[in-house]
Amino acid sequence: MRKILFMLCCTLCNALAQGQYNTLKIPDTLSGTNFNLTLRDTFKQIRPGNQTITGGINADFWGPTLFFNKGETVHMNVKNKLNESTTVHWHGMHLPAVMDGGPHQIIPPGTTWQPFWKVENNAGTYWYHPHMHETTEEQITKGLGGLIIVRDPIESALDLPRKYGTDDIPLILTDRTFTAANQFKVVPYGDSMMTNGTLRAQFTVPAQVIRLRLLNAAIERSYNIGFSDGRKFYLIATDGGLVNKPVELSRFLLNAGERIEILVDCTGQTGKNFDIKAYNSTLSGFIPGGENFANGPFGNALGKKDFNILHLNVGPATAMPVKSIPKTLTTNVFPDPSTAKTTRTITLSDSSGVPGILGPNAFILGHKLFKINYINHTIPLNNTEIWELKSTSGFAHPFHIHDVQFYILSRNGAAPKAEEQGWKDVVLVKARETVKFIAKFEDFADETHPFMYHCHISLHEDEGMMGQFVVKGTTDVKDTDLADAEFAVFPNPAGDVLYAKFTKADSEAYYARIINNSGKTVMMLPRPELEKGIDLKDLPAGIYFIQITEAKAGSVSVQKFIRQ
Ligand code: C2O
Ligand code: CU
Ligand code: CU
Repeated sequence: MRKILFMLCCTLCNALAQGQYNTLKIPDTLSGTNFNLTLRDTFKQIRPGNQTITGGINADFWGPTLFFNKGETVHMNVKNKLNESTTVHWHGMHLPAVMDGGPHQIIPPGTTWQPFWKVENNAGTYWYHPHMHETTEEQITKGLGGLIIVRDPIESALDLPRKYGTDDIPLILTDRTFTAANQFKVVPYGDSMMTNGTLRAQFTVPAQVIRLRLLNAAIERSYNIGFSDGRKFYLIATDGGLVNKPVELSRFLLNAGERIEILVDCTGQTGKNFDIKAYNSTLSGFIPGGENFANGPFGNALGKKDFNILHLNVGPATAMPVKSIPKTLTTNVFPDPSTAKTTRTITLSDSSGVPGILGPNAFILGHKLFKINYINHTIPLNNTEIWELKSTSGFAHPFHIHDVQFYILSRNGAAPKAEEQGWKDVVLVKARETVKFIAKFEDFADETHPFMYHCHISLHEDEGMMGQFVVKGTTDVKDTDLADAEFAVFPNPAGDVLYAKFTKADSEAYYARIINNSGKTVMMLPRPELEKGIDLKDLPAGIYFIQITEAKAGSVSVQKFIRQ
């Protein structure tokens, strides 16, 4: 017995000494206005032994960080080289629903999807990830996703760290369970923390004020962020960008889908090391990650425990370091509750007890299971609304809404804490809590493509804890004069670029699809800019059809063309 214990101990110690830390991977970057993203099934050496089958976007796990400038129009060229359908959702972005990448903007395998939009969001940290109904959990588990960093003049004028990967460090938090053969298990909670896809990550930071951009990309777990030496940190941004002034904190509960940016002062600390940790032992059993199940579907090695997220070593300072925490950051103008025209109540509940719906473990919104062809709410364009999220559920759910950034008005009637007084697109609604937020639904109306709201625990979302709304403009009456919206294509045969032009001048394209000779959609172009031409470079020579839906009449017409 003693010998076995001794051997066990040695094995553990050796494992710790040898492989104690791996260097944190910093995702590559893409910037400019044209972005090529290719999703594929791939593999990665994550643990010794077998490689792990993963999903990656231009990479072997996860994807590049995209840099956008507010006010610029970004064009995305998304290629699905997976063996299954997917979608790519731009989480937190304010854009037309047809570009949003929710469950309605499906990209079949072998197809290219080309959404584009003008960046209207404030400087901040956003992300992109698959949103295919019922397979979101599995596709996110594979590693599909990426970070978006938006810059704007207000943020750029501040003395803040912004050397990506040096003093401005992205931290994508997730956890995974591996099978004995080193493969990911699709489970709500993982046994091992992975920061930027790195197990037992460490990183050397300069001895100055550093900025950490944290994203909770986990399937279910919340992380109660803090530092091992008890140091304070300063929250500078929530989901939708800067808060008015830094908020000093020692803990922050970061829930699935949420982002924060924090400043940590390492000035004069060269040679020191400390950890950023999840202090989850203090969480209640009704918060994701606070449960203490030894086994079963929710059992995992990290439940209700404190564990490391990243080991930090402080190295020398860089040239021109940021040395202090700014006093003020911005002046946010949140919607005024007196301007709200509508209050909408959304219930969050356990489905047990709802006759004939589901088993005891599923949760629902508005007493309904998600149905892809049912529009739960129609919101008039430019409406300011108060959403009352009323939970009767015995568990906490991170509620997320597309299209807008909102401002939290109250939790159970009380004003939000300082660290929640910013633009948000995810809010944790605790068990039996009522949360109210205010948002304005501006700019984009579309009766065909809805926006989603849902619990950001992918397991709950896939099981149907989701609803959808359309934003309806006032000029939505169908224009029957344009019903016979014919168009011509030229040149035909075409080289690298194909032009299309409607015969009636008032016609507008809502959607174009290019279909090959065997009937497969190969390119999808929401709101195509026909006058700029369609780039056919990626299409092999052959016979194709282009199908265009006219925006005002909703009519569909088709032309045949040859790609030389
Ligand atoms: Cu991050 Cu609807 O999703
Ligand atoms: Cu989203
Ligand atoms: Cu949930």
